Amino acid sequence: MAASHATGKVATDKIFGANQLAVEAMQKHGRDKITNATIGAILDDNEALVVLPTVDKMFRSLPAAELAGYAPITGLPDYKEAVIGLAFGNSRPEGYVNAIATPGGSGAIRNTIWTYSEVGDTVLTTDWFWGPYQTMCEESLRKLAVFNTFTPEGGFDIGSLAAKGAELLTKQRSLVLLLNTPAHNPTGFSLSREEWKKTVDLLVDFAADKSKRITLFVDVAYLDYAGEKETTREFMGLFSGLPENLLVVIGFSASKGYTMYGVRTGAMIAVTASKAVANEFVNTNELACRSTWSNCPRSGQKILASIYGDKDLRAQVEAEREQWRLTIEQRAKIFMQEAREAGLATLPYKAGFFISLPTTAADTVVAKLNAQNLFAVALAKGVRLAICAIPGQKVPGMAAKIAAAMK
Ligand SMILES: Cc1ncc(COP(=O)(O)O)c(C=O)c1O
Repeated sequence: MAASHATGKVATDKIFGANQLAVEAMQKHGRDKITNATIGAILDDNEALVVLPTVDKMFRSLPAAELAGYAPITGLPDYKEAVIGLAFGNSRPEGYVNAIATPGGSGAIRNTIWTYSEVGDTVLTTDWFWGPYQTMCEESLRKLAVFNTFTPEGGFDIGSLAAKGAELLTKQRSLVLLLNTPAHNPTGFSLSREEWKKTVDLLVDFAADKSKRITLFVDVAYLDYAGEKETTREFMGLFSGLPENLLVVIGFSASKGYTMYGVRTGAMIAVTASKAVANEFVNTNELACRSTWSNCPRSGQKILASIYGDKDLRAQVEAEREQWRLTIEQRAKIFMQEAREAGLATLPYKAGFFISLPTTAADTVVAKLNAQNLFAVALAKGVRLAICAIPGQKVPGMAAKIAAAMK
């Protein structure tokens, strides 16, 4: 029945599948016997979803009209102002900066692929990447290619990016590069300031050919868990004064930073030196929104705008979140220490929700772990652990178990 482009499509979500196995095991053996490292959300030590108390309270006190009413297609004006302020902090780049509300960071990724690559083009990202990048490309009739995320020493492989980017630019006019940093899913990696500088220089080189159109999409879904607030945002200052054919789009998400996962509150924020490119960004993406999801939930926008507009409230939310950032940091510290002791290879985790362990036999390793009541996600190149979701008391001993399963 489906048309040819949709025939045979099935959503085989490995993360959902792995979580399902953990849930079944919990029902069978009891919660305390199971470690479920599949969930990409912060859980407390009782394995309940963490919702920042201030966000929770604000939700419950919203008037019905703010909960149920439409928002403008591109978002409430004070929300757009808020996401720009919250995303950049003190590192707002110079140039034309515009925001458009999207349903989570996902909507920002979707619109960027749709608007800035041609149908049939190949979009580029790191070889460790969040699965929906691929399905979003395919759904939009694009392809996804990858370059090596890491050098053998564990740094960002700028040489691989240079080679793959140049290769694609011999075949297509537009290049969309998706980079998830800081606190990358699935590895917890963040580009250093020097790596960022080299990346921006490389893209400026690509843009020296004025017939090309380069779009850098920076997926900052985990920004607020990456470390000190202003230090982790400093790289955004590098986006000032770029060539007119090099557009930066920041993918903002309130899902993790404000624990509003299901409220579908995000934004795409464009930075450009060109007024024409800025106007085009607003016009074409407004139409892209109108033609897909129409508008985004008003409630989440209202809450973020209120938080941004009130210094005390913002400080309160930041303090609540910081407690959980430190909790994740502590869980990760114990795991990484034990991994070193057990001789378990890990990717260069710096911060965030996930730690990944490289292996060419991820399915086998995960099956062995499942048999010992430890549930993780098998990826193409390794095993992903959602350290954000593992209660502190269940972290000790995990690394040794995994090291044994790797043998
Ligand atoms: C790397 C990455 N980018 C973007 C998102 C988007 O999340 P949302 O659409 O809920 O904002 C996620 C969510 O898991 C993610 O892991």
